[in-house]
Amino acid sequence: MSLNTSNSSESRKRPYLNLESLRRNWRAGAKAAPQVNVVEWAEEFRKLSKESSNGGKFITSRVEVARSPMLSATEPGVSKITLMACTQLLKTTVIENILGRFIHVDPCPILVVQPKDDAAETFSKDRLAPMIRDSKALRELFGDAKAKDAGATLTHKQFPGDHITLVGSNSPTNLAMRPIRLLCCDEIDKYPLSAGGEGPPIDLAEERQAKPMTAYVCASSSWAAVRPARLPAK
Ligand SMILES: Nc1ncnc2c1ncn2[C@@H]1O[C@H](COP(=O)(O)OP(=O)(O)O)[C@@H](O)[C@H]1O
Ligand SMILES: [Mg+2]
Repeated sequence: MSLNTSNSSESRKRPYLNLESLRRNWRAGAKAAPQVNVVEWAEEFRKLSKESSNGGKFITSRVEVARSPMLSATEPGVSKITLMACTQLLKTTVIENILGRFIHVDPCPILVVQPKDDAAETFSKDRLAPMIRDSKALRELFGDAKAKDAGATLTHKQFPGDHITLVGSNSPTNLAMRPIRLLCCDEIDKYPLSAGGEGPPIDLAEERQAKPMTAYVCASSSWAAVRPARLPAK
């Protein structure tokens, strides 16, 4: 018996004998994980919205200090990023760029935590929606998903391959609702010490992260408002 690449009845019955089909499947299986990092993604695909103080193309060097946390998000061995910086500098924008990169090139279940439910809705309306609207790659992804995602709401949206959920840090039920891989926590200085008496919100959310840890926590806060007890314990 010899292997061949033709459509013989033998190779049709037993496709693993068809070398071309084997090669095709091997190539598909061996496809490398996406290598694009958050800086590359943002500079290629992100458009800052007119609602932002500087609309237009995203250029990292305009706020150079954002480069390192953005690069860290895909650096091997990094599972947590903590940002502490003055207001109106980079923090939520870094979170947005990390979200965009994962939604677009490495889809996974995502949870974004804001201090309260209404802040999660505001983030969805004022930050996420404009980023999707103005960044063509994301617009196309969510546009395609919208047709199928009849249950899309301000705080839960599907995109091809997975979903993003936005919750308030005060609700233990919402924090623990779904398994997640990417966790982004914004304005952590405004989180309650305990969510509904069940423990620190960040701990509750981290418990939902798939093991091994492949997630990144972006914790944002403002110097003036930071209370050390509210920074992540780990
Ligand atoms: N690299 C950049 N180029 C241009 N504008 C930027 C850049 N990074 C952040 N900004 C703008 O700065 C403003 C404040 O950023 P933001 O991330 O919301 O601040 P905060 O640190 O308070 O979360 C936003 O309008 C954002 O679009
Ligand atoms: Mg912010």
